[in-house]
Amino acid sequence: MVAVTTKSKPLRMIDLILSKRAGHEHTAAEIDFLIAGIMDGSIPDYQLASWLMAVCWRSMTLEETALLTDAMRNSGQVLDLSAIGPVIGDKHSTGGVGDKTTLVFVPLLAAAGIPMAKLSGRGLGHTGGTIDKLEAIPGFQVDISIDQFIKQVKEIGMAIGGQTAELAPADGKIYALRDVTGTVESIPLICASVMSKKLAAGANFIILDVKCGRGAFMETEEKAIELAQAMSSVGRLLKRPVTAVVTDMEQPLGRAVGHTVEVIEAIETLKGNGPDDLTELCLELGSLALVHAGKAKDQKQARVALQALIDSGEALKSFGVLIRAQGGDDKVLTDYSIMPTAKHTKPYMVPGSGKQWLEHLDGKKVAEACKLMGAGRTKKGDPVNMAVGVVLNIKTGDSTEGGATAAVIHYDTEEQFSAAASKLAEAFTFSNSFVEKPKLIKASV
Ligand code: URA
Repeated sequence: MVAVTTKSKPLRMIDLILSKRAGHEHTAAEIDFLIAGIMDGSIPDYQLASWLMAVCWRSMTLEETALLTDAMRNSGQVLDLSAIGPVIGDKHSTGGVGDKTTLVFVPLLAAAGIPMAKLSGRGLGHTGGTIDKLEAIPGFQVDISIDQFIKQVKEIGMAIGGQTAELAPADGKIYALRDVTGTVESIPLICASVMSKKLAAGANFIILDVKCGRGAFMETEEKAIELAQAMSSVGRLLKRPVTAVVTDMEQPLGRAVGHTVEVIEAIETLKGNGPDDLTELCLELGSLALVHAGKAKDQKQARVALQALIDSGEALKSFGVLIRAQGGDDKVLTDYSIMPTAKHTKPYMVPGSGKQWLEHLDGKKVAEACKLMGAGRTKKGDPVNMAVGVVLNIKTGDSTEGGATAAVIHYDTEEQFSAAASKLAEAFTFSNSFVEKPKLIKASV
């Protein structure tokens, strides 16, 4: 193990635990000692778990969080993409339900001339993962090597790969322990986890979509803003510009939840037929990126440019280029039936009778309905059913009436349908009086 010492005495993990438990700030040497010890295995899991719990209770300053992020970034390979060009973008969402933004954002921004180098994860907890969704496209390879990732960004201006163990490996070790020790929901730990991977992936500006609401890790707007501020401050301290937007994840984004159905919705969005909220989020995040990259003078001009790329079919063409480059079959753009498709579809009806408004739609419960049909994992490595899913007919604030279709369930067996339908009954809450539609973009940081 690398011997890291202060002037007077060698560092010991027990002292870091005691210091954090008492609410003190760690030094750079202590943080380096911690990450070196995690990487060479000299810090046992029980001490690391204890330290993680102390961080959960005592938190960390922004400077400390930046030191932790930097040390975690440097625990593995750090990509240098500077040869590709002066501006390379990345986008990260903190995870939600029905969030297929990356599938639209990456080809759209590449069509606008901004290279996009995007490493994505698989589903985590109740939230879906971009990498899993892309695997619904026949042949699409997500496990690409770092060399191919870089080559592809150079040649076609975009790549979407699976998060590799070579980048920020300290995060993999810490995350596995956090997952089983009740220490996931700590703002400095989430911040260091996300930012270390983003910084190691080499992009020189990052657009962050911090989700808030019952379908997200941050349930309240206050906590989501705190996380967004922490990530943009750490980005500033480590000289990597970050623009963060806090968006609603009380209800799913868009109408489709599931793998194949989400890919279809992303393609429809690139064709200009996407749901309002997904289209709006892609234009908002995309216009921030265009302004940052100096390709538009303001967001208004940037939105017009992005909309033109959708209207002209360039954005869709760009997705075809990405699919082909990663071994996928681009016939999917015109023929959705080549993806895994559920055996049956059946509507889930609005209960009661007469005019009603959808008062609340619980994104987490919709995700659970899909998971009950096999769309999610209960443990790492479980296979996922790409074909099943839920397509929502109404969103919060929409008016409807008893007996109308609230959602369409895509399923293979009657057991799956019954399990999903009973979970959806918990997801929808109706009202007899007018309900306002919720705001999608809650704050910009
Ligand atoms: N996603 C991550 O990569 N890390 C976290 O800590 C939470 C969400």
